Amino acid sequence: MKQQFEQYTQEDFDVWETLSSRQEVNLKDKACTEYLSAIDDMKEVLYPGRIAEFSQLNDWFETRTGWTMYCVPGLIPVDKFFELLAKKQFCSSTWLRNMEQLDYLEEPDMFHDVFGHVPLLSNNVFSEFIHEFGKLGVQNIKNEERLIQLQRLYWFTIEFGLIDQNGPKVYGAGIASSFGESIYSLDQKTARVPFNLDEVLTTFFETDKIQEKYFVIESMEQLYQAIIELKARWK
Ligand SMILES: [Fe+2]
Repeated sequence: MKQQFEQYTQEDFDVWETLSSRQEVNLKDKACTEYLSAIDDMKEVLYPGRIAEFSQLNDWFETRTGWTMYCVPGLIPVDKFFELLAKKQFCSSTWLRNMEQLDYLEEPDMFHDVFGHVPLLSNNVFSEFIHEFGKLGVQNIKNEERLIQLQRLYWFTIEFGLIDQNGPKVYGAGIASSFGESIYSLDQKTARVPFNLDEVLTTFFETDKIQEKYFVIESMEQLYQAIIELKARWK
């Protein structure tokens, strides 16, 4: 499957522009430094004025952390998902929400996948974390309990993680790509707890509800150490 760039409509470009420019402004004081500097580094291939073209993203990554975009029609089987990550292939949708559902989505679209996830793939430590995560998934693909634990780890870090940088900041893609959740997750009244690997591995989540609590890491290095620890435990 390939991104059919010429098939995007004017509405698609308008949606991309509206979401990206709104969120770039919104995240200026909310996203972590790693995310913001990645957005800055990638400004020639990822910016509000034009839908991101996967071939350009691939060229950009080739001389950096080496990720490539892998187009998927929607959610894919878990074994395929881990296999791709283990090969540094990041799966992404190519469709975009329409103007009537800017803030409501049942499945991740290209704005979530690209604007939310892709910037941090250029960060060396985060890139290694997610790569190791994929490899660990492949090694444990027949172990249902471990796969559930890995899904929780993914959910509370890669999707909905916060990091402490003089106060909580956003790095999870589910938050970074959501106008409402980037505000809510940092609200004084919202529950936030320090990241703890064992607690994350045993915490349930529901995909269609707003998060009850967020886990806050101290640094990207802490994430990487967490996956290394899990790998050692599961040997
Ligand atoms: Fe996601």
